[in-house]
Amino acid sequence: MSKLVGLFGAPYADLSALIDTSCFPTLDDELSYALARLEPSCNGTGGSLKWMGVVAPWVHDDPYLDYGHVLEGLSRDELARFVSLGDDPASVDLDGPRRFGDETDHPLNRRQMLYLKYRHGVYFPWAVCYHLLSDDRWEDKHSGAGKDFEPEALREMPRTVEFVKSLPFREIGRCVLFGLEAGQHAPAHRDSEPGVAPSVAQSISFAPRKGKRFYLADPKGAQRTVVETPIYWFNDMDYHGVEADPYFRYSIRVDGVFEPSFARDVERVTRRSAPAR
Ligand SMILES: [Fe+2]
Repeated sequence: MSKLVGLFGAPYADLSALIDTSCFPTLDDELSYALARLEPSCNGTGGSLKWMGVVAPWVHDDPYLDYGHVLEGLSRDELARFVSLGDDPASVDLDGPRRFGDETDHPLNRRQMLYLKYRHGVYFPWAVCYHLLSDDRWEDKHSGAGKDFEPEALREMPRTVEFVKSLPFREIGRCVLFGLEAGQHAPAHRDSEPGVAPSVAQSISFAPRKGKRFYLADPKGAQRTVVETPIYWFNDMDYHGVEADPYFRYSIRVDGVFEPSFARDVERVTRRSAPAR
């Protein structure tokens, strides 16, 4: 444990004693049926984590290709080919900095994502993502100001939305379903940096169906802690990823600001369960 930053002396906070998850089989049924019919928010994401510099040290050397690096290595003609698939090719300076995708002014559209995958062998760890409540930028994912659930999510995933709304948040700034296809893994990475982030980002993650092996890893990757509970808060300053398994897996992450009384309850329950040091 000592090598993870963790929460309140524990590797992560198990929220299952504080939040009733008896509706999860119903949510799983609702979500599976909805995902089969709806257009996802994206058909692949997370393909530039290495380039963004957020992966664990041992991930840099793995054989999976990152589109940030691939795009840097393209000839001007090859880049023009990629840009031609964008929504507004004329807005891109082919001789400018090659900044595309997540958290840039030129997010990938579906065609570009598929082209990077088919032509250049880029790996997108999360094959499916669906925004039930969207953030505008990564930085505002904890603020609920001016945001609401997507009308489609309200219509097609009503029980899930009802459950998320019942969670002990004062405000919700983002709610996203992340899914991995059979065989896919999510590389170990961290969302914020210890010593840089002012506080631990407040979030609740939940997996209505068992079988997703989400893990936390120490900075050397010597030890992995698989999160066994269906609902949890983890410290995203710790490296985290998902092990490969031979079937589709998903979870939902909700970011926001906790009700103060809930934050206190989590601390109390988690400290009680933390291993003695
Ligand atoms: Fe993450």
